[in-house]
Amino acid sequence: MKKIKAKPVVVSVGIEQGLSYDVLIERNLFSSLSDLLSEYAPSHRYAIISDNNVGELYGLTIRDQLRRDGFNVDLFIFQQGEENKTRETWCDLTDQMLVESFGRDSCVLALGGGVAGDLGGFVAATYMRGIPVVQIPTSLVAMIDASIGGKTGVDVSAGKNLVGCFHPPNLVVVDPEVVCTLPVDECKQGLIEAVKHGIIMDRTYFEDLSVAIPALLARDVDKIQDAVLRSIELKAIVVSEDEHERGKREILNFGHTFGHAIEAAQDYSLSHGTAVGHGMLLETLLGIELGLTNPETFDPIKKCLGCLGISFQGSLAIDPDKIMNYLRLDKKSKSGERRFVFISEIGSVLRREGDWSHTVDEKTLTHFLKSL
Ligand code: GLY
Repeated sequence: MKKIKAKPVVVSVGIEQGLSYDVLIERNLFSSLSDLLSEYAPSHRYAIISDNNVGELYGLTIRDQLRRDGFNVDLFIFQQGEENKTRETWCDLTDQMLVESFGRDSCVLALGGGVAGDLGGFVAATYMRGIPVVQIPTSLVAMIDASIGGKTGVDVSAGKNLVGCFHPPNLVVVDPEVVCTLPVDECKQGLIEAVKHGIIMDRTYFEDLSVAIPALLARDVDKIQDAVLRSIELKAIVVSEDEHERGKREILNFGHTFGHAIEAAQDYSLSHGTAVGHGMLLETLLGIELGLTNPETFDPIKKCLGCLGISFQGSLAIDPDKIMNYLRLDKKSKSGERRFVFISEIGSVLRREGDWSHTVDEKTLTHFLKSL
């Protein structure tokens, strides 16, 4: 770790050629941004990329604070919402930076939730063939998932995140206290991802989270900090081993094969976290049906996700034909086959013949979905 005045917890994420970047976690860390940028991402100019909500909440303050400290910084705002994570928004942002004469010696500060992280990261990855990005996540999902691992991109009409690239950040700055200002529903979305980390990698963490959910939803900042830290540690382990998702990183897709299909089948009226929550329930059941997952895993998972608003009745109510149609479009499919991550037990993902995800044929899937 480099020298800064604040004393954050540091989690290191490995990337290719033995390099790594740091994720710094500490309350009130945004107030140390000037020091952090000087140390980790010294640049001639900075472009804060943020949506209209977060831009107003944090972007203006951060811009003004950095300007007072002598930084050359501008704030670029896009309209909030996943529906704006598009090539058009990417085009607007890069055009604005070109008009403002940002050069190759600039750096993007991607400030906000997952959309700002993906979009800001993609702008950085492509602007003048690539400039550095610092991820400054302000939602719980972005802190523990989207800001770590270097995935960037936009959604297109054929599906989410289908145009993008890997562009690891120079630094990720996490202030867990920000979670206390989020609406409770947004907090639930992040906790669903945290529960996923426990289910796939750490049974004790899953059990701790299951007990702590009321305190976490009441925004107990110590408990939030603990969860943020553990989830970041777990995600860092996975992406350090497999940055480009050629193997182990696939385990993070637990719940996502059904989850993405459910999101699409419901015309994106469900949030991503909720869809993945339903996806985790269905993928646990599918694993049990196929004899791959211990049946005793289902009740604790159902109970824990139930506390986060994922009702099993809700999972059952989703039209199986629509789910099947969208599964056919899944970008994780190989040779047209649907691929799933299965747990064997809570805390362990099933690995068979070196593969972390497994194909399930259409007949078996149709039968499973109709039998629910
Ligand atoms: N959100 C899954 C991943 O980063 O691979």
